[in-house]
Amino acid sequence: MRTVYLNGAYLPENEANISIFDRGFLFADGVYEVTTVVDGKLIGFEGHIQRLQRSLDELSFGHKIDREELLGIHRELVSLNGIDQGMIYLQITRGNPGDRDFAFPPADTPVTMVLFTQEKQVVGTSVEANGLKIISVEDLRWGRRDIKTVQLLYPSLAKMEAKARGADDAWLLQDGFVTEGTSNNAYIVNGGKIITRDLSKDILHGITRKSVLDCARLLQMEVEERPFTLKEAYGADEAFVTSASGFTNPVVEIDGKTIGTGKPGPVGDKLRQLYLEENRKAAL
Ligand code: PDD
Repeated sequence: MRTVYLNGAYLPENEANISIFDRGFLFADGVYEVTTVVDGKLIGFEGHIQRLQRSLDELSFGHKIDREELLGIHRELVSLNGIDQGMIYLQITRGNPGDRDFAFPPADTPVTMVLFTQEKQVVGTSVEANGLKIISVEDLRWGRRDIKTVQLLYPSLAKMEAKARGADDAWLLQDGFVTEGTSNNAYIVNGGKIITRDLSKDILHGITRKSVLDCARLLQMEVEERPFTLKEAYGADEAFVTSASGFTNPVVEIDGKTIGTGKPGPVGDKLRQLYLEENRKAAL
């Protein structure tokens, strides 16, 4: 059985309980981060911690996280659960006001903080080797997708729609332009140029996105940060997605149309290699 973290205590997972009045449960009033573990070490920790604080600030949580404390908890959970490859999920909610009310609780209401590990192969996966089949669906999420909140019902519905249609995942569309994937950032490659939507409130500012674009620049690849259409994606030489747990994963089909050769492309492959190399060196 896993050991999880809840509000200062390390507990067996079946003993970690949260109130039915918790704002995370009643209002999806919570933010989260997913940090990947490779060789028992944390990938991209600083980026995740900084984004977590930003998410809290954007939602007026008035809660300051303590980097050292969080690093300690992450490491302790990796050690207690013997994680070599996998993820650490962290969630902070606006806590338990003791009743249901749309108004925020008093500022001194303690937040709820939960962390748990997920053991999962992240290096050398079948997706990396074979690529993903994607469908496109309208992006019906709210307007602050730059905040990493736990209101994930629409991405979950989109994922199920993809599965029902024999695909793996969905790309989300706004005015004919791709915003991002259900749980990843989206890229196409055309004539050697990497194209991905620019940062705004429309998409999550991926920690992997930033690192992968740094790698692209190191490799002297050309990067264009701008929205791209679905039509452009259909005609691309290559497509891929990035996320903490997937690094870069190739996209080989969109809406039943083969992308490029139908095999994982060389640009995504090279970026994945360098991303892993650089981030393994910097892992904590
Ligand atoms: N998802 N866009 C969305 C909507 C996401 O949910 C995620 C991450 C990303 C990629 O961000 P990053 O590179 O920082 O992981 C982009 C996580 C992994 C999840 O929900 O499990």
